[in-house]
Amino acid sequence: MSKILLLHGPNLNLLGTREPEVYGSMTLDDINAEIIKVGAEQGVEVRAFQSNHEGALVDALHEAREWADGVVFNPGAYTHTSVALRDAISAIALPVVEVHLSNVHAREPFRHKSLLAPVCVGQISGFGWRSYLLGLQGLLANV
Ligand code: DQA
Repeated sequence: MSKILLLHGPNLNLLGTREPEVYGSMTLDDINAEIIKVGAEQGVEVRAFQSNHEGALVDALHEAREWADGVVFNPGAYTHTSVALRDAISAIALPVVEVHLSNVHAREPFRHKSLLAPVCVGQISGFGWRSYLLGLQGLLANV
């Protein structure tokens, strides 16, 4: 059975109430439940984790080496700033798919640049919670 880490970065704990016109009305628990369910239907175990702290996300990526076959990752604002997360993704040598609820390329210019996308298998952006679903499918094709 494949095992996948579903990793969420800063402020995503506020989904549901956070700018719903941008990020939708589903809570993080709703999204996790949906992805865990879809994974289970395909014989894939999905474990979800969220942190607002860059170091905790680095730790989660390191720990994934011990048990996961790949990672679906919404790094939130760290997408645009974090050399540490980029280096962690390079270091663990697991396939990682970067996902975003909103279309980051249609938003402010500072969101157009991802420091992480070049070391990920791919990036999915703009499909709301279904970005995670598409990310999972893309990842499963690569594990
Ligand atoms: C986001 C996009 C980021 O630019 C932003 O900082 C987020 C959420 C998204 O899912 O659309 O926190 O990753």
